[in-house]
Amino acid sequence: MSNAIQFFHLNTGAKIPSVGLGTWQSDPGLVGQAVAAAIKAGYRHIDCAQVYGNEKEIGSVLKKLFDDGVVKREDLWITSKLWNTDHAPEDVLLALDRTLKDLQIDYVDLYLIHWPAPLKKGSVGIKPENLVQPNIASTWKAMESLYDSGKARAIGVSNFSTKKLGDLLAVARVPPAVNQVECHPSWRQDKLQDFCNSKGVHLSGYSPLGSPGTTWLKSDVLKHPSLNVIAEKLGKTPAQVALRWGLQMGHSVLPKSTHEARIKENFDVFDWSIPGDLLAKFSEIEQARLLRGVSFVHETYGGYRSVEELWDGEI
Ligand code: A2P
Repeated sequence: MSNAIQFFHLNTGAKIPSVGLGTWQSDPGLVGQAVAAAIKAGYRHIDCAQVYGNEKEIGSVLKKLFDDGVVKREDLWITSKLWNTDHAPEDVLLALDRTLKDLQIDYVDLYLIHWPAPLKKGSVGIKPENLVQPNIASTWKAMESLYDSGKARAIGVSNFSTKKLGDLLAVARVPPAVNQVECHPSWRQDKLQDFCNSKGVHLSGYSPLGSPGTTWLKSDVLKHPSLNVIAEKLGKTPAQVALRWGLQMGHSVLPKSTHEARIKENFDVFDWSIPGDLLAKFSEIEQARLLRGVSFVHETYGGYRSVEELWDGEI
């Protein structure tokens, strides 16, 4: 296995490692081991979020890895995300400080607005009556202050449609460095990728394997016949082919696993590539967004009456 990790350049001048370990749905008790296994296997990028409920455990493991000299803080890329209950400008710094305390670090490399769909301050659970009107411009101003302070070395967004990203770019003093969105061979995000390329925003792909463990998403991305034909021809696994496709499209990819063998498998994607004739076969794969965000839309409450409005028709 080659550990010759590749990077993508951000509009801040920083280099983001192209493969990061996803931690969404990594259970407490398992996530720490997964982070340690990933870093020992060569990963230098960990994708976190306050709402995943596991930043404290990740923080303890990071501290131990730093103390033991396994990796240096400056050689790691750590992303976290502002949860929807903390969009009020006065809450943004408090939320980041909580994350920094939990992760036991004094800056994040990237801090993202997790969803463009705020929830009532202090509310628990994603219930319709907790949805409130977004004011992304004012939340973004507070994010810009975090960037100015150096506590977040880059700032960005997640789950933003092309339109929402464009609206933000129109008012931003500090342009978002990253839009982290669902992206895999069954949801290629062609339109958003073209827009991001034209504006210098990096697209980072979550659920790059189509989240096969999330039963309610009913994902069969890794079982798709075209992906399996390509994998067989290249002598790779469907997961590796899905990830390699993302890299060749210019996305960083954030596969989640809590199993060491898969963590290693998902990192073995740097010293080979998908040739053009096989890359063309990806256009055979039907497209469907898996994570539709239905709990963030409501006819009465919040800013979006339908999933069409949430994604501005990109569904
Ligand atoms: P596990 O954590 O048990 O290894 P995504 O990153 O697209 O959200 O997908 C994460 C899901 O894919 C998890 O259920 C994870 O299970 C599973 N997974 C991770 N790596 C692989 C792999 N190489 N092959 C098959 N499934 C994988």
